[in-house]
Amino acid sequence: MTHDRTRLSCDIRPATPEMLPEILSLEEACFSSPWTRKMLESELMGNQFAHFLVAMQQEASSTGEKSAIVGYHCFWIVFEELRLMNLAVRESVRRQGIGTALAAEAFRVALNHAATRAVLEVRASNTPARFLYTTMGFIQVGTRPQYYSNPLEDAVLMEMNPLVMPSGRQNGPPCRAGGESTSTDSL
Ligand SMILES: CC(C)(COP(=O)(O)OP(=O)(O)OC[C@H]1O[C@@H](n2cnc3c(N)ncnc32)[C@H](O)[C@@H]1OP(=O)(O)O)[C@@H](O)C(=O)NCCC(=O)NCCS
Repeated sequence: MTHDRTRLSCDIRPATPEMLPEILSLEEACFSSPWTRKMLESELMGNQFAHFLVAMQQEASSTGEKSAIVGYHCFWIVFEELRLMNLAVRESVRRQGIGTALAAEAFRVALNHAATRAVLEVRASNTPARFLYTTMGFIQVGTRPQYYSNPLEDAVLMEMNPLVMPSGRQNGPPCRAGGESTSTDSL
């Protein structure tokens, strides 16, 4: 499959409640069983373990340039454990390292919170995500039969233990973390 390897720059920063509509539309475009607005809202505002990052890129609009959300990542840090929850990148900008950069930023935040291992579940048929996580250093540790619905499908359980910064991309991530003055560490 051909894909655009141009590595456009983007910023990774904490999500804010005002970003919810844009995140929801990305969520709905990327998943067959998307999280609802209410679920996203409670992760963003009501879950003490949840952290939420967005990847933003400048793009042309009728009024000039505007910043658009091209990816997002929700992850939990539960004591020593990083749990990667939802990770999504707009289809038109995939294979440019944005998914890796979002996950890598989650690793950085988790290591700063003294997390020591990382876990996730992914649909068995989700080859892009499984490749991404494997590239980052996750290994498959089990399956959960018929765990997902719409469509019914097994979950593959993946783990990285101990948690270390991923070494997948040798040419560096395309995204700058934090934006002008916002630190993702405060999430
Ligand atoms: C999974 C997803 C987040 C990856 O985002 P991305 O920005 O395209 O990922 P990256 O560019 O960082 O890819 C990193 C590596 O993952 C692997 N990968 C990503 N997409 C792939 C694909 N379609 N086929 C094979 N490998 C793929 C490759 O090894 C890639 O490295 P390379 O491009 O140097 O070969 C994106 O495909 C997506 O949003 N999918 C829909 C939502 C989803 O399934 N989320 C994950 C489950 S929570």
